[in-house]
Amino acid sequence: MYVADDKRYDSMQYRRSGRSGIQLPAVSLGLWHNFGGVDNFENSRAMLRRAFDLGITHFDLANNYGPPYGSAEETFGQILKKDFLPYRDELIISTKAGWDMWPGPYGDLGSRKYMLASLDQSLKRMGLEYVDIFYHHRPDPDTPMEESMGALDTAVRSGRALYAGISAYNAKQTSEAVKILRDLGTHCLIHQPKYSMFVRDPEQGLFDVLEKEGVGSIVFSPLAQGLLSDRYLKGIPSDSRAARDFFLKKKDIGEATLAKVRALNEIAGQRGQTLAEMAVAWVLRDPRVTSALVGTSKVSQVDDNVAALKNLKFSAEELRKIDGILAGK
Ligand SMILES: NC(=O)c1ccc[n+]([C@@H]2O[C@H](COP(=O)([O-])OP(=O)(O)OC[C@H]3O[C@@H](n4cnc5c(N)ncnc54)[C@H](OP(=O)(O)O)[C@@H]3O)[C@@H](O)[C@H]2O)c1
Repeated sequence: MYVADDKRYDSMQYRRSGRSGIQLPAVSLGLWHNFGGVDNFENSRAMLRRAFDLGITHFDLANNYGPPYGSAEETFGQILKKDFLPYRDELIISTKAGWDMWPGPYGDLGSRKYMLASLDQSLKRMGLEYVDIFYHHRPDPDTPMEESMGALDTAVRSGRALYAGISAYNAKQTSEAVKILRDLGTHCLIHQPKYSMFVRDPEQGLFDVLEKEGVGSIVFSPLAQGLLSDRYLKGIPSDSRAARDFFLKKKDIGEATLAKVRALNEIAGQRGQTLAEMAVAWVLRDPRVTSALVGTSKVSQVDDNVAALKNLKFSAEELRKIDGILAGK
């Protein structure tokens, strides 16, 4: 029987999600990869246990994580039943709907029909009565935003979710969505944007909107899917995400990128960190970032990413050097 480490709250840092009552761990774990039906169940289980033992109280899912679609939620549901049920009230579990999930016009995007049916399916797969956060995974250009936000509001009001979130909405769409939710009486708890040293779009207005509106941010792919680590410095390992050549493409690991990774790796070394640790620390340097949402394929990566918290401070000189490297100077 799994008994969680009784020191699990001793070293993790928790940050408040905007103007809300919820604090999230500075590092959260996402189940997009390595928790599907095709993956090794005991490895998935070991990563979740290790994460919780280190104070990671937040696990992030979506309806279509797998493969196959839905299977990450099923895996999580089984592990929850075996290991985590006594700890349910110590966990923030999120799921999302917005990308393709089932065939036909009601299994994708942002209709009320899709979003609420999907949430019911997610709850069933995970064996939960409610999720802590339910997200709209991406904006739907063809559905009125009032309808998608109305579905989030219904999810919260009906008790299927405690909080509402949005992902991949740009700054303008975010202002609109937050206002619609507020008018309905539901606060938008959090936004989930992509953000890393390699992808800095949220700095162009989104973070400002989130700060003004009191909405937290949990940034995904802070390691740029593993690129911002030492993983690819000596080629493409056969057990890596890039080896699968699907979400992270081999062609994206060209010499220009590797030159940046090597230079960043050197700065990380001077800071006494691995590059993965520095990549996590770098996103957390901005107080508007509530949590760095990492993925992992092995337990040692969970340890490494949490170890980032030992050094979150960057000197102005380090930041200047990093900006120079990223700009290709
Ligand atoms: N809202 C959205 O639209 C959206 C989109 C994408 C992701 N997400 C969320 O964000 C989460 C994280 O995304 P991500 O998996 O792309 O994040 P990431 O942390 O940037 O990349 C994770 C990958 O990096 C490698 N890695 C992790 N830690 C490492 C370490 N310490 N040293 C060396 N390599 C390391 C592993 O690759 P290998 O497998 O090669 O070992 C791991 O699978 C997802 O699980 C999901 O919850 C949300």
